[in-house]
Amino acid sequence: MIHVGVLASGNGTDLQSIIDASERKMIDAKVAVVISDNPQAYALERAKKHLIPFEIVEQKEKKREDIDTEITRILKNHNVDLVVGAGYMRILSKGFVKEWYGRLINIHPALLPSFKGTNGQHDALLYGVKITGCTTHFMDEEMDHGPIILQAAVKILPDDDQESLAKRILQVEHQILPRSIQLFAQHRLTIKGRCVQIKPGDSWADMYKLIPEVLYAEGY
Ligand code: GAR
Repeated sequence: MIHVGVLASGNGTDLQSIIDASERKMIDAKVAVVISDNPQAYALERAKKHLIPFEIVEQKEKKREDIDTEITRILKNHNVDLVVGAGYMRILSKGFVKEWYGRLINIHPALLPSFKGTNGQHDALLYGVKITGCTTHFMDEEMDHGPIILQAAVKILPDDDQESLAKRILQVEHQILPRSIQLFAQHRLTIKGRCVQIKPGDSWADMYKLIPEVLYAEGY
């Protein structure tokens, strides 16, 4: 059973997907601590509801390095094996990324390397692409750049607005994020340069319902 530390800034539905997968025993992992930069984040309410320890690390007038040292201290106090960025809207320091490299994953609401940044869904819609999706990846020192674990493709529909599209992508995020954590927990992920090799094993496509019209990467 691995211990996961989750970094979240907002509503926390990605966090909830990890908590649910853990409680349903779909993953060999439990959320050991939730850390937020935002005292108002609903993610913190979710942690409370599930009796998961949480900490607020406020960022005002602090250096990024000092904030991240504080976050590392908390993660280590909770014996965290894997750190997950689940809607964490802050840039992490190079030192933090280096220390946790290979044990630090992020979810992004677009098919990287397209539409990096804090508004992946909106940017895809504005650009006019017809297919977008979501990506899990190991974080490295560049934003939304590190080796990709899983992706899933989602069609943009003619009537989509930012809200409807973000909602459909989120449903898929709630599948590939816990799945990526499970692959890590099963020691099935090997980083080779920019690429992540996934060792063969069980498949969630065989075990759980897929969303029609979504294309899931090999390894899901
Ligand atoms: C998710 O769509 C996640 O991919 C995105 O924030 C949302 C958080 O939703 N993350 C980023 O854009 C990171 N650049 P949630 O608060 O409901 O989990």
